[in-house]
Amino acid sequence: MIKKKIANIPFGPFITVLAGAMVDGKPNYATIGAYGVVSEKPVLYISLKNSHYTTSGVVENGFFSVNIPSSESIYKTDLCGCVSGNKEDKSNVFDSFYDDAGNAPMIKECPVNYLCKVIQTISIFDFTMFIGEIVAVYANEDCLENGTPNALEVKPTIMMYPGYYDLKDKVGTLFKTYRSMSTDEPR
Ligand SMILES: Cc1cc2nc3c(=O)[nH]c(=O)nc-3n(C[C@H](O)[C@H](O)[C@H](O)COP(=O)(O)O)c2cc1C
Repeated sequence: MIKKKIANIPFGPFITVLAGAMVDGKPNYATIGAYGVVSEKPVLYISLKNSHYTTSGVVENGFFSVNIPSSESIYKTDLCGCVSGNKEDKSNVFDSFYDDAGNAPMIKECPVNYLCKVIQTISIFDFTMFIGEIVAVYANEDCLENGTPNALEVKPTIMMYPGYYDLKDKVGTLFKTYRSMSTDEPR
């Protein structure tokens, strides 16, 4: 196997999510890959370019949402990553819903939604990383299996430069695949 040095383009895989915020009283969503979990506590981060319209709403309200679109919404998902609310009103691209726990819109047609309260911000070059405590979580009932979302029903979109991909199969079960195949004593 020969290893080659290649250009530094973030390849992924990253899960495609829509970050939501209220801006001037209207919902706005931006497509992002810079999203993730930061601890065992219910805390998520999103990293947004400072010039994005969504960013101003997160700063204004102290809340953001993370919405997991199904791959069936790929057109609208890419739209929210190509068009800025600075130039065009995106408030009607998706239907929004709200929770009393915080002022950020969530997307009805996304199977999973997190509402987060900003607890810390980190400046990174021309981006801001917003770290948010999850204050409400929603999921479409028909995607649930034993109370948690089933990935193959949610149909998330994975971004790997330069494409969007969907999930094909389940290849294992968390904390069980190793144990079920190993003859070792549990560690
Ligand atoms: C696939 C994809 C991934 C993106 N990831 C990010 C990201 O992680 N962070 C970010 O700030 N912008 C990201 N963008 C760019 C924003 O979604 C885009 O600039 C959007 O128009 C900003 O919208 P707004 O100005 O209404 O907030 C991404 C765009 C696409 C298409």
